[in-house]
Order: sequence, then structure tokens, then C-alpha cells
Amino acid sequence: MVLEGTADVGATVALGRSGARLRAFVADEDGRALRIVDVDGGHELAAVPLDGAPSAVVASREGRLYVALADTSRVVVLDLGDDAVPVVRCSVPVAPEPTGLALAPGGEHLLVASRWGHALGVWRTADLALERSVELPRDPYAVMAGDEGREAWVLHLVGGRLSVVDLASGSVRELALGWDVVRRHLGEFTFAPGPGGSWEPRPMISVAHRVAGSTHALARTADGRVLVPAALMTPGGSASPAFGYGSLASPPASGGLVVVDPHARSAWTSEGARAGRRDDECLLPRAAAVDTAHDLVLVACLGADLVAAYDTTGPFAHGLQHYAVPVPAGPTGIAVDTVGARAVVWSQFELALCVFALRHVPIMGMPAVAPRLPLARRIDLAPRAPLAPEVALGRSLFHAADDRRLADDGRACASCHPGGRDDGLTWSTVDGPRQTPVLLARLREGAPFGWDGGSPTLDAHLARTLTRLGGTGLGAPERAALAAYLDSLSVAPSWSHGGDATRVARGRELYEARDGGCVGCHRDGAGDGKSHDVGSRSPRDATGSFDTPSLRGVSRSAPYFHDGRYPTLGAMLTDPASGMAPTARLPADDLDALLAYLGTL
Ligand code: HEC
Ligand code: HEC
Repeated sequence: MVLEGTADVGATVALGRSGARLRAFVADEDGRALRIVDVDGGHELAAVPLDGAPSAVVASREGRLYVALADTSRVVVLDLGDDAVPVVRCSVPVAPEPTGLALAPGGEHLLVASRWGHALGVWRTADLALERSVELPRDPYAVMAGDEGREAWVLHLVGGRLSVVDLASGSVRELALGWDVVRRHLGEFTFAPGPGGSWEPRPMISVAHRVAGSTHALARTADGRVLVPAALMTPGGSASPAFGYGSLASPPASGGLVVVDPHARSAWTSEGARAGRRDDECLLPRAAAVDTAHDLVLVACLGADLVAAYDTTGPFAHGLQHYAVPVPAGPTGIAVDTVGARAVVWSQFELALCVFALRHVPIMGMPAVAPRLPLARRIDLAPRAPLAPEVALGRSLFHAADDRRLADDGRACASCHPGGRDDGLTWSTVDGPRQTPVLLARLREGAPFGWDGGSPTLDAHLARTLTRLGGTGLGAPERAALAAYLDSLSVAPSWSHGGDATRVARGRELYEARDGGCVGCHRDGAGDGKSHDVGSRSPRDATGSFDTPSLRGVSRSAPYFHDGRYPTLGAMLTDPASGMAPTARLPADDLDALLAYLGTL
């Protein structure tokens, strides 16, 4: 049997056509399996168990399947057997935590984006040899081949950036998916000294930095523009005052599309085009696919549990929602079948695959909310390894966008802590600037919580979080479920990247040195449960004492300190003012060794 893949970009669902039949290949992360579904027949054909949690699958034009396993850091290659069920042919180790896959035009290269590994791998598909590995900034998450295979466009989950990698030279160019919004406050004035020395009223103008967050997926229009569904955030940083989390100068978060022209080297959004229209905000976009026939991009919105169809023609219509399709809970993948004019969506939380018809829905006037369209079909898959009910509830609460119990503006925990980690942003709060901390593997190390150690228990910190977000509150079982979900997250063993063992051993020695070491406060990589004044108070801080942070996963959580003042660990350790220890005077070799050891925590 011959199978033909229909897309070159990996997702949690890939389609392949064999004759007249459409097959869906589903990366079932919870069940650690590849599920094969007969879309026309409406039933599951087989499940292939995998040695890890699959994060993406892509089917080549020749019908070969590539699956990325995020926690065991491998890519598995499968071929179709006689009975049309894929069989594992081989697998290769790749940089830690592969999350994005794409095939370059011609199918000769497989591109692999590794989130924890901060790398793009270029693999030859003929013999699965690594041709090139390119180091990238933090959290490269999704990848697409661009410019006829001469470039790779890598989308970062954190930091609002797209890396454009030249595949021949390995050079990297970065495009920022963020911009300053200047707002004139009509009727509001400030006073400033005029030419004659007297104080004169001036119109009030505020500048807020917007940055694209929750950037998990990218899609390409027929004319070569790249679309990135995003939540546009205004964290406020250390400059602006706030009551909750984020600047008062503009809405803290709203859903939108960022349009990138990789040739013009620019990125923009037409957030303003939607003014006056409410729409169902897509604050946790997870996956995207283009419907070229209707000039729409279909975005799977986690938390809101719908697929939103946005206009891709610009500049004014751009970003308008034409319709929305409610889908089963936890949509993480979407693929378009152009031949059958339908979209296939994978909902991980409810273990269901669903199908809806692609169509044109004209916008008539300016209705507040786009029309809702029905599903054509829903195919339920049998659970393979069900999550504990409490963890499953915690996961859905963690990703619940638009849930007023959690936040008055619809933000979810996952908006700022994607995958239980951090967004790399510093949010302004009433207590001062606070950089989002990593939660994964840290919380079980114990109290207190918050940079200032102000929350004696996790429950107390959840209450503090909901107050800051303006949520109405959660009951005790829901709070326990959130804690159970957070406890279930960890750093996979395959992600350790200290490198050379003697260097790591030397680093450990320095870390544990009696005087000038780090263990006195950062016990075994964890904190000591105490607050210290290391001289890091910033002008807007309510206190100068901070709880010793846990250093689990610290090499992957830039920037550093409660206000994010250091962009890298190296910058922090070489600054005599950091107040940690006399690391500023360490010889370069020892500094490298200490950094290598921190990479193993
Ligand atoms: C707007 C971004 C944002 C959202 C939304 C958010 N957090 Fe946080 N989170 C932060 C920041 C910033 C801190 C540090 C706060 C501080 O130190 O005062 C933090 C701290 C925490 C901590 C303490 C970690 C530690 O080691 O001290 C926990 C636990 C936590 N958040 C869980 C959650 C949960 C659960 C939700 C959803 C209900 C959530 N957060 C929503 C930004 C956010
Ligand atoms: C006196 C106790 C103390 C000692 C000794 C100490 N630290 Fe810290 N460390 C802290 C405190 C408190 C903070 C938080 C400061 C802030 O955020 O303003 C911190 C922050 C950090 C951070 C930033 C974490 C993040 O996520 O932003 C790193 C990394 C770190 N320390 C590493 C080290 C290393 C390496 C050493 C040894 C060379 C060391 N520390 C020694 C108390 C200490």
C-alpha cells in the first residue's frame, strides 16, 4: 500500500492518503503511542506503542512517518507494513526535547527543533545522519522550511522571536515578535516645564511593550507570509506600576495573529483591526493550518476548546475571525485535507479526533462574535494509559483560558507557565517586578513560595495568584488538583546537558566550596527555605529580601533574578554586584565548570 503525506510540517496530527482513503496519524502524548485512524471509516485502525511521549508527527510524500519523542529525546522512523499499519524501522537520538518537525522541499532533509536542547538539527532522510546542528536562543518549538529549502524558520515558544536559519552556512538571524504600542490618552494630561519655565499641560502618552507569547505554531499563506497565532502580552517589566500581573497601560493579554514577512524582515499584527469586535479570544493557540481555498488560517485554541478561522488577507481584514468550531477538550493539533475540503483536529484531553468541513463564511456587518459552526464527525479513541483523574482535572484547570474563576481577563496559568515552565517575562506587580519562575520539578522542594517568600504554602500562593489575576476563586478540590498536576511535571533525565564529566565535577566542587560556595543557600540545587538580602532590591520593590530560589532547570530559564535583570547565567556570575559569591573573580575555566554543573541541576 502507498501512502502520501499531505503536509511538510509536523503536528500532533498528520494526514496521509492511500488511494481514496484518508488516514490520520495521531501523536498521543498521554498514551505514549502513535494512533492510526481511518478518517472516512470513523474508527481507529491500530496503536503503535512508542518509547516516549510523542510531541509531533510528520508524514513524507513517500509515506514514511517521523515521530518526535520529547521526553526521551529521539526521533522514530516508521514505514507502512503490509497491513497498512506502520512499523518502527529505527530511531535516532536528537538534541534534548524535540518538539518541532518539518520536511524540507524534496524530502531530503528533516528539520528537528529541540526545546530544552536550544537547537535545530538538520538530518538527511536517506541515511539519518546529522548534517548540521545550529544553536539557538531558548525554547525553539516549531519549525518550517522556508525559501525553497534554503532557510529554516524556527518559532520560539518563549521570548517572542522567530529565528531564520540559513541552512548552508548555519548563520542565524532573529526577528522580534514584539513592538511598542504608543497610546495618547485623550483628555488626560501631564505637566511639564515649558519654554518660559512655567509648567504646561501636555497630552498624556504612554508606551507599552507588547510581546507575542504562547507561540506554539506557525503556518504559511500561499503568498509566502508566515502567520504566528499568539497571545499579545504587556508584562510591564520593572518600569510600570500594576495591581495585578502586567502593565496598566494596555490590556495585559489578548489573542491575535502576528504576520511575518521573512523577506521584508519584519513582523506586525493588526490587533487594532478587531477593535469593537469581541470574538472568542484565543489566548492559548496550539496549532495552525492554512485553508488556502478560502484564505483562512485555522487555529486550534487550547483552553477555549475551539478552532478559530482567521482571515489571512491583509491588511485590514487580517486577523478577523470568520467562524469558530467548538471541539472536544484539549485541541493540540490540526491538519487540513484539501482534497476532501475538511479539517481534522486532535483533542488530547478528551482523546477524540474530529472533522469539520472547510468553507467560506462571509463577515456580514460587525457581529460581536463570529458564528459557531458544527462538527461533521467525532471519533473517540480508547484511552491507553489514562491519567489519574486529579491530574487530568489539574491539567484542564491549568489550561483553562477564559475561566473567570482564575482570571478576569481570561489568562490561564499556562499563559505564563507554558508546560509548567516560565515565559521568560518580568511582570509588574504591586510588590515590584517579578520574573515568572519555573514550576516544574521545583515546587515539591517545598515552601515558601513567591520570590519574596511571602506565601507559606502552595495553597496560599494559589490564593495570591488568583487575587493578582482578578479571579473569583477555586474550591479546595480544584486547588488540590492544580497542585497534583504541577507535582506530576518533571525534568526528563534525557535533558541533562552538563557535558564533559571532569568539568562538571570541578563545577560541583566550586558549588560546594566551604567559603564562597553556593550550597550554603542553594542546598543541593534547591533553596534553603530562607530569605536573604543579597543587595538586589530594585526601586519598585517592596522588600530587599528574597527567598533563595531553587536552581532546578536553571540553565534553561533565562533571564535571572526576581526582576529578570541578568540575560544569562554568565552575566550574573561575572557581575560583582550580584551578591551571590565571589564568582566575579573566578578564572574563565572555573566559570565554565560552574556553568556546566548548573546545567545538570
Ligand atoms: C501573568 C502571568 C502569570 C500567570 C497567569 C500565572 N502565573 Fe504563576 N507566577 C507568575 C509570576 C510572575 C510569579 C512570581 C510571583 C512572585 O514572586 O510574587 C509566579 C509564581 C508562581 C508560583 C510560585 C513558584 C515558586 O517557586 O515560588 C506558583 C506555584 C505559580 N505561579 C502557579 C501558578 C498557577 C497555578 C497559575 C494559574 C492559576 C499561575 N501561576 C498563573 C506569573 C504568572
Ligand atoms: C546568601 C545566600 C546565597 C548564596 C551564598 C548564593 N545565592 Fe544564589 N541566590 C540567592 C538569592 C536570595 C537569590 C535571589 C536574588 C534575587 O532574585 O533578587 C539568588 C539567585 C540566584 C540565581 C538566579 C535564579 C533565577 O532563577 O533567577 C542563580 C542562578 C544563583 N543564585 C546561583 C548561585 C550560585 C552559582 C552561587 C554560588 C556561586 C550562589 N547562587 C550563591 C541566595 C544565595
